[in-house]
Amino acid sequence: PEAYTSLLDEAATKVQSILEATPSLAKPRVMIICGSGLGGIANILHSEPKVEVQYKDIPGFKVSTVPGHAGKLIFGLIGANKVPVMCMVGRLHFYEGYTFQETTFPVRLAKKLQAETVVVTNAAGGVREGLVPGDLMLIDDHINFPGLAGYHPLRGPNLEEFGPRFQPLSDAYDLDLRRLFLTKARKDLGITRKIYEGTYTFVAGPTFESRAEVRMIRNFGGDAVGMSTVPEVIVARHSGLRVLALSLITNAGVADKPPSAFEENPKPLDEGMASHDEVLEAANEASKDVQKIIEATINEL
Ligand code: 6GU
Repeated sequence: PEAYTSLLDEAATKVQSILEATPSLAKPRVMIICGSGLGGIANILHSEPKVEVQYKDIPGFKVSTVPGHAGKLIFGLIGANKVPVMCMVGRLHFYEGYTFQETTFPVRLAKKLQAETVVVTNAAGGVREGLVPGDLMLIDDHINFPGLAGYHPLRGPNLEEFGPRFQPLSDAYDLDLRRLFLTKARKDLGITRKIYEGTYTFVAGPTFESRAEVRMIRNFGGDAVGMSTVPEVIVARHSGLRVLALSLITNAGVADKPPSAFEENPKPLDEGMASHDEVLEAANEASKDVQKIIEATINEL
């Protein structure tokens, strides 16, 4: 843990030295983590002042290995109130081979830079009946499968400077922030897109779930499923940061059962599934709404 915390100190010192020339950005109030296909969120930052820092230039930072995931922090201002933010474009995943300590390093860096709130976004699979690509889901709870099985971001010596040994998670997803998000979407922006509230299930990946696993997750009370977010949320809560977390449903409707060899005319495998193009289109349209709502929400923080 000493090596880890001294790397964090080095990372904070490095970033602070880069931001020294731009004092209005030096203390990001909000950290934004952009999910897959949601890198456009970075476009809501004012164009000036803006400072980009590549992960590879920050001590202790790992680089994203997923194709199409950039690897940079963008420091900038959001909204008429010019709220200073730190936007992470290209997140780090456990399935890439990193430890949870490595994937959540950026969250602890945000804490060191005195951030107060983390806005986490992801692309997720819809598990709850009726969810379709393009739907939004405010996360109000989670199931941490790897965590329950012993792979947990807070396993190991507790980092006392951040938080307690036994962190409660019953209030992890801030109610006031969820209400603010909904007010901005519905009342202020008039966005009519479906917005649900529900439980995000974290799985390690990198495979998508089998049909039996989707049934299991549904029976366990999961509404959406994905390969990120929960580790960052846990570390954020441990550090005393407030959390707003949002899933963009990018695929859903996989049949509950595989076709049976006993059937004369089994249903085609892709029945009920959106085409890849439809999925990308839905995600792209929805991400524009996500950008607007997040901008309006952060403007109030
Ligand atoms: Cl269907 N599953 C998982 N685990 N992650 C996803 C997903 C599904 N869709 C987007 N991300």
